[in-house]
Amino acid sequence: MQYIQPFQQAFHDFLDGNPFHKEPENLYVPADYIMGLGGKRLRPVLLLLGHYLFDDRFHDSLPAAMAVEVFHNFTLVHDDIMDAAPLRRGNPTVHQRFGLNAGILAGDVMLIRAYQYLLELDRPHLLPRILDVFNRLAIEVCEGQQMDMDFEQAEEVRIEDYLKMIELKTSVLIAGALKMGALLGGGSEENAGLLYEFGRNVGIAFQLQDDILDAFGDPEKVGKKPGGDIAQNKKTFLFLKALELGNPEEKAHLKAWFSSSDSPEKIEKVLGLWEKLDIRRYAEEAKNRFQDQAFLALEQVGAEETKKRLLRELAGELLMREA
Ligand code: IPE
Ligand code: IPE
Ligand code: MG
Ligand code: MG
Ligand code: MG
Repeated sequence: MQYIQPFQQAFHDFLDGNPFHKEPENLYVPADYIMGLGGKRLRPVLLLLGHYLFDDRFHDSLPAAMAVEVFHNFTLVHDDIMDAAPLRRGNPTVHQRFGLNAGILAGDVMLIRAYQYLLELDRPHLLPRILDVFNRLAIEVCEGQQMDMDFEQAEEVRIEDYLKMIELKTSVLIAGALKMGALLGGGSEENAGLLYEFGRNVGIAFQLQDDILDAFGDPEKVGKKPGGDIAQNKKTFLFLKALELGNPEEKAHLKAWFSSSDSPEKIEKVLGLWEKLDIRRYAEEAKNRFQDQAFLALEQVGAEETKKRLLRELAGELLMREA
């Protein structure tokens, strides 16, 4: 991804210059730990690209890029508690390494720091608009996370409910990062809205890919526990599609496995059925439909074609990602 290197570099420099690094250590060390584990830094780069589409001085938006990455990492720390996940980015999760209370409180302080970074933007007249976008998406992420957990217990989940859930828990942050960048770069409401639509569809496809990787990815690359979603009875697209396509006996087995607790046999049996039903292919098809929708929205954005190409290529690579 050579073409986005300047945006990545600018963000990494900003990040290196702004560690949490304060006392009490037991609060801030976990925050620096999760921020330092890397990750793709997708959301800050998208925010900077959103700015760049309308104005070259994307460095001015670095505090906002930092805000979305800190917010994203906060959601991961709390998500790993909720999902009882042992691994994140190939390393122990925050609560696993530092304890549950540290995970809760480090997450809280990260959320608040995200707002402080937004206040560091030197364009006060834009702040109410930016805060409006950010507050809305932050609430929606909580709504999506609650739906995700509710679905673990729910008897009936429709594919459209699942799609709404992933739109809220994942795609609105990706979409909102692009929109905030566009507004900060002086883009019109119309163009910022079209970019949001691009990001919303990319984000849904991105979470579909996340669900595919959880089941079928290379654990070394993914850096999370393989089959974690099956272990937690997550009603992902893969599960819902298998319920739709399986014969009555297969459906009954799948339902029984998804009301039992975690075991290696459960993961193995469920994966075996999904492979038999060719579920991965259906998930890839769904992902491609959202990618097409995303590109249609991007086409309509009024910005230079060479700049829009950066976003198209980045989205294309992300949606084929292995990590
Ligand atoms: C993980 O996001 C959580 C999801 C929304 C799927 P990323 O896959 O962007 O995580 P990092 O930041 O690159 O580790
Ligand atoms: C993550 O969804 C969504 C948020 C963190 C808001 P997942 O639970 O699927 O993410 P991973 O797979 O743990 O990264
Ligand atoms: Mg999770
Ligand atoms: Mg989760
Ligand atoms: Mg996942």
